[in-house]
Amino acid sequence: MSGLDQAHVQTRLVHAGSPELNGGAGPVNVPVVRTSTVRFADTATHAALNGRRTGGERVATYGRHGLDTHQALEAAVASLEGGYRSILAPSGLSAIVLVLLATLAPGEHALVSDSVYSPVRRVDKALLQRYGIELEYFSPGKDDLETLIRPTTRLLYLESPSSLLYEVLDLPALAATARRRGVLVATDNTWSGGLYYQPLALGAHISIQAATKYLAGHSDVMMGVVTVDSAELAQRIGATYDALGLAVGADDAYLTLRGIRTLDVRLARHHQNALSVAQYLSRHADVARVFYPALPQDPGHALWQRDFSGASGLVSFAFPAGQPGAAARFIDALRYFSIGASWGGYESLALQAAPERLAEHSIWEGTGEVVRLHIGLEHPLDLAGDLDRAFGVVRDALRRSA
Ligand SMILES: Cc1ncc(COP(=O)(O)O)c(C=O)c1O
Repeated sequence: MSGLDQAHVQTRLVHAGSPELNGGAGPVNVPVVRTSTVRFADTATHAALNGRRTGGERVATYGRHGLDTHQALEAAVASLEGGYRSILAPSGLSAIVLVLLATLAPGEHALVSDSVYSPVRRVDKALLQRYGIELEYFSPGKDDLETLIRPTTRLLYLESPSSLLYEVLDLPALAATARRRGVLVATDNTWSGGLYYQPLALGAHISIQAATKYLAGHSDVMMGVVTVDSAELAQRIGATYDALGLAVGADDAYLTLRGIRTLDVRLARHHQNALSVAQYLSRHADVARVFYPALPQDPGHALWQRDFSGASGLVSFAFPAGQPGAAARFIDALRYFSIGASWGGYESLALQAAPERLAEHSIWEGTGEVVRLHIGLEHPLDLAGDLDRAFGVVRDALRRSA
């Protein structure tokens, strides 16, 4: 569609990657184009297309590269993130691994914010250490990045707001330091769905999303996506993708593309519902602390206001210290919240944050047990009523054991 680059993001989400009308008519969204084998008109075309693909163009000569549905989704995400190109991966974690393997070689070093999605540490232990790649965890709010950069540092890997406690990082400042020293900057942008935060415009070279969450938005797809700011990075990450033999199913690409069309309205409601739950929790006598950057009292609020245009449905809160078992009792008493490890779908979820995961975050001050909520699209009064009842169950149990 011509002129789409100048349109607002809502318009781009609706139209990006739409199919051309063939013979004067066609479907609104891209059909699911499933294939393993791609056919060619003749050997010269086969050779020419292969040459273009190995030269870095987005041309499919085999099913693993993904065809029309994949390309439409990549175009939509690249438009959303303001990137040069987006590359799909079979899960959010595989997108992270793809970036780490494409940007780091044996003997090289990466600095990683210590409040990062915890399985990154598993990738480090199970894979990177075996290949002589060193990840070093640091506190972006407390440590001086400049002094931590070594001659072998190739990558600064961040996530903002972070997992579990939503620490907001000063990406423009961190990226400026890294860029001055020739270090690539990658950040996990899953929390904002790419809609409320533009890491590439703030200095990152690479933005990663678990499309499993808000992009797909319906808890029925596993998908990751890497968006880069240059042809050189697209080539590097594309070559690593090929070498790893990764592939994404066309049905999953289609479901994610369908999710993207409604991202703006879904996220607005997640934000609105989560803010009202966060405000409710912050007034609650049985809550020691609420973690949600859109609340004025959150330590990351000023940075969030400066760099973000909205907030997600993730809200965490801490019970007061000295109430062992409160989180599990609370979660078990909920009716509308399912117990589930993921987030970003239409439904509300609750999970206790494991103490050993919280201990990895230098901002964690070690108060009581922490519950992570994902606030879905249910009516906020129903959710507040459910939370109220669960707090009542915890209070009764405390009274009985006093
Ligand atoms: C911030 C963040 N990044 C990445 C991932 C990994 O995504 P996936 O589950 O699709 O591998 C998750 C999953 O929970 C996540 O919360």
